[in-house]
Amino acid sequence: MSDVLLSIPVRTMKPITSVRSNSAVDYEVLVRRGSFYGVADRIAELKQVGRILVITDTNVERLYAESLIRELTKAGFRTLKFVCKPGRRQKSLRTATEIFKFLFDHGADRYTLVLNVGGGTVGDLGGFVAALYLRGLRYIHIPTTLLSQADSGVGGKVNVNFGLNLNSLSVFHHPTAVWIDPDLLKTLPQREYLSGIAEIVKYAAILDQGFFEQLEGWSAQINKRCDDLIEAVIYHCIKMKCEIVSKDPKEQGPFRFFNYGHEIGHAIEVAYDYKHLLHGEAVSIGIMASSWIGRRAGLTDGGAFLRQETLLRAVGLPVDIPESLRARSDPAVLLDKISRILLLDKKRTPYGFMWIIPTKLGHGVCSTEIGRSLVAQCLLRLTQGRLTT
Ligand SMILES: NC(=O)c1ccc[n+]([C@@H]2O[C@H](COP(=O)([O-])OP(=O)(O)OC[C@H]3O[C@@H](n4cnc5c(N)ncnc54)[C@H](O)[C@@H]3O)[C@@H](O)[C@H]2O)c1
Ligand SMILES: [Zn+2]
Repeated sequence: MSDVLLSIPVRTMKPITSVRSNSAVDYEVLVRRGSFYGVADRIAELKQVGRILVITDTNVERLYAESLIRELTKAGFRTLKFVCKPGRRQKSLRTATEIFKFLFDHGADRYTLVLNVGGGTVGDLGGFVAALYLRGLRYIHIPTTLLSQADSGVGGKVNVNFGLNLNSLSVFHHPTAVWIDPDLLKTLPQREYLSGIAEIVKYAAILDQGFFEQLEGWSAQINKRCDDLIEAVIYHCIKMKCEIVSKDPKEQGPFRFFNYGHEIGHAIEVAYDYKHLLHGEAVSIGIMASSWIGRRAGLTDGGAFLRQETLLRAVGLPVDIPESLRARSDPAVLLDKISRILLLDKKRTPYGFMWIIPTKLGHGVCSTEIGRSLVAQCLLRLTQGRLTT
C-alpha cells in the first residue's frame, strides 16, 4: 500500500474510489480539491431526488453550507436546512428528535435527500436520522473536518450518544455518496486538524506499516499542513477503508480494526464530558493505552509501542491524559468513572470485552482474552499520568 501512495503524484491521482460489496452497499467516494463547487451538478445526476435537507452546524453553515444552499436553489432544487450548535454533545437523541420533528412538520417524504455538511458530529447525526426516518432516506456526506474526510465519512456507522454510552444508539446505513474536498480544511482550527491526524496514525499503526513509516518521515510537514500531502494521505486512508468496508460492511471482521484505541479512548472522551478532549485526542491516548495493555500481555512488540509514541508526540498529539486535565479531579474518582464507562461500552461480548491490540507495526489482533486486572493496571497508570513512563 505504501508503494502505491509514494508513487502517486497528487495531480494524477485517481480521485474516485468506491465501496463495492455483495450486499446492497455500493457507493462512490470522491476525493478532489475544489469538488465542493460541483455539488449541485452531481446531485442533478441522481434519480428521484425530492427535496434536499442540508444538516450542518452553525460554524459550517457560515463557512460553507449557506453558499451551497444558494447554489442548490439556483440549480432549481427545493431545500430545507437544519442547523445545530457545534460540538459532539449535539450527537444526541434530543437533536435527532428535533430533526425528525422538523422533517414531519415540513411534510418531508421518502424522496428527501439528506446532505450532511460538517464534521463527524453532523455526519453521524444526519446519517442516524436518515437511517430511521420513514424506514430510511438517502444521504450524502460532505465532510468538512480532517477526521470525517479521512475516516468517519466512509463506513455507514451512524450514531448518537445516549448519556454515558458513546455512539450507543447506532445503526448501519451507508451513504449514497461521499464527496470530499480537502480545500475545506483550510478553515479548520489546528487542534481539530490534529484530532484527525490521530485517526490517520491509528490506520497506519494497526493496518499499514509502510504508511506508518511514511508518516514518521513526514511528521513536520503534516504538522504544518502541506495541502498536497494531506490530500494524498486522505485518499490513501479512505481507499484502505473502502477496501475493508467492501469486504466487511457490517463490522464482523477486519472493519473492527478501525476501533483501535477507541476502547479506553471513548471512555476518557466521555469521562471528560466531550468537552476537554477532542475525539482524536482521546483516540491518541487510547491507542497508547491499548498498546500498553498489549505489551504487558506479551502481544505487542516494544519497538512498535515506542515508535507510535514518538510519532504521536512529533505531530503534537497527547500520549497520556494531560496533567492540566488530571488536576481537575481526584485520581481515584477519575479511575472509578473511566472504569464504569468502559463497562457500558458496546464492545462487550458474551466472551469478554473485544480489544484491538497491535502486534507489530501495521498489524493487530482482536482479542476477548485481555484480563481485567491488566486493564485495571492500565487505567490506574493512565489516571496517574504514567502510561508512557
Ligand atoms: N461514524 C464513524 O465511523 C466515526 C468515526 C470516527 C469518529 N466519529 C465521530 O465523529 C465525531 C467527531 O467528529 P469531528 O472530529 O469531525 O468533530 P465535529 O464534527 O464535532 O467538528 C469539530 C469542530 O470543527 C468545526 N468545523 C467543522 N468543519 C470545519 C471547517 N471546515 N472549518 C472550520 N471549522 C469546522 C465544527 O463546527 C466543530 O466546532 C465524534 O462524535 C465521533 O464519535 C464517527
Ligand atoms: Zn474515531
